[in-house]
Amino acid sequence: MGTVVVVLRWLLVVGGVMMMAVLLACSGSEVALVTRIAFGSCANQSAPQPIWDAIINFDPQIFIWLGDNIYGDNRHPFKLFGKERTVGPWKNVPRFVPSSEHEMQSRYKKAKNNPGYSRLQEKTKVIGTWDDHDYGLNDAGKEFGGKINNQRLLLDFLDEPQDSPRRKQAGVYASYTFGPVGRQIKVILLDTRYHRDPLFSDGSILGSLQWTWLEKELTGPPSAITIIGSSIQVISNLSATTGPLFYMESWGRFPKERTRLFKLISDSKRGGVFFISGDVHFGEVTRYDCASVYPLYDITSSGLTQAVEKAVPLPLHFIVRFAACLTPTTMRVMDKSCRYRSCTYGQPNFGAIEINWDATPVTLKFDVRDANGLPVTSVNISLLELQARKIDPTAIMKAGKCQKHCCLEVNLPWLVRYRLAILFFCSLAVFLLALIGGGYAVISVLVRCFHKCKLE
Ligand SMILES: *[C@@H]1O[C@H](CO)[C@@H](O)[C@H](O)[C@H]1NC(C)=O
Ligand SMILES: *[C@@H]1O[C@H](CO)[C@@H](O)[C@H](O)[C@H]1NC(C)=O
Repeated sequence: MGTVVVVLRWLLVVGGVMMMAVLLACSGSEVALVTRIAFGSCANQSAPQPIWDAIINFDPQIFIWLGDNIYGDNRHPFKLFGKERTVGPWKNVPRFVPSSEHEMQSRYKKAKNNPGYSRLQEKTKVIGTWDDHDYGLNDAGKEFGGKINNQRLLLDFLDEPQDSPRRKQAGVYASYTFGPVGRQIKVILLDTRYHRDPLFSDGSILGSLQWTWLEKELTGPPSAITIIGSSIQVISNLSATTGPLFYMESWGRFPKERTRLFKLISDSKRGGVFFISGDVHFGEVTRYDCASVYPLYDITSSGLTQAVEKAVPLPLHFIVRFAACLTPTTMRVMDKSCRYRSCTYGQPNFGAIEINWDATPVTLKFDVRDANGLPVTSVNISLLELQARKIDPTAIMKAGKCQKHCCLEVNLPWLVRYRLAILFFCSLAVFLLALIGGGYAVISVLVRCFHKCKLE
């Protein structure tokens, strides 16, 4: 009898140890330390997507889609004249129209079956949110009728489980926590479309339900690092310097909502927060020092296929780069190591985040990388930089001058703020004057010839 009890006890102990080992192994695979994250946006499913090779070579543990994951809407050509006019005050046809559900589905299928992207999915956790073109319509917000259907299509594309609560909520916002306790990375993905008020309204971007959720996420359990993914740029307000020529979407276009976001981060006392974004068809890193209790970074990568320089023929690339140098910015992080002087990058690119947990203090490396995987803009910081500290208010307004990373673009002297528009209209005026002058010269020569011929 005694030996039976001993054997039973022994079996119990061995069983317990084995179960613990299995549990540890299972949870161990879920809490693997995360050191490499890639992200991207703006991928035309019908165009070649060679950049996936570079992303796979970077070997990210997580890949984050930041929107325009497909181009779901249809674009009418840019036409000033003719039967179907899409621009100008006399336009009679919208430039963008939504496509059918069937068409959206087939475009998602094409994107998902891209050989490069398929290979990435095999060993990388893929998560994501949307922007306007995969939401269903260029620049669309809460008014767009296709949003309920298209939410399902995006979540299908991302392999969201059928019973996921994310399929039942209004909008595709979500949060994830990766890594072991003490070295956790939280990724918060915002939905900047489903609840967004019209542009120029200075209304809401997130809507009240998403705000309540975000407050909970930011004030909830701490994480060493918190990445907030927004389809549109959070820090840069490009429109302030490109208007009235053209306007881009961004948090800057909704100043009240943006202030609320910065205040929430400040009040939450959460360290290690930074933003990633897409949308604009170029890459850059921006930083805002005067909004919160520590500098707020925004790493923008756009796009995987769509990029400003690809929109013009090769010989005109220098014009795009010249315009990029000329566009004033108060937030962009400038560095001699950037590939181009402007520290923007207008060719296909992806974002790469590397975390060195072994360094003391922990360091972060933010890169925008080209289609070959080479960095074009890099920023190295210590995680200590992203912790609350006192900001010296006198440093903000030194001699009333616009301080870099602090002064808003709208507060630049107007000659600086509007220099792109001024140069554009001056060039146009010179061009028109030259045309008129040339025309006048040709006509006067012809008239003189005509008189001469008559006299002879
Ligand atoms: C996507 O690529 C295809 C094929 O190159 C092209 O015809 C189409 O216009 C592109 N769409 C966008 C939105 O750039
Ligand atoms: C961003 O620029 C737009 C356009 O000039 C302006 O209306 C808006 O107030 C700016 N936002 C901020 C936060 O400066």
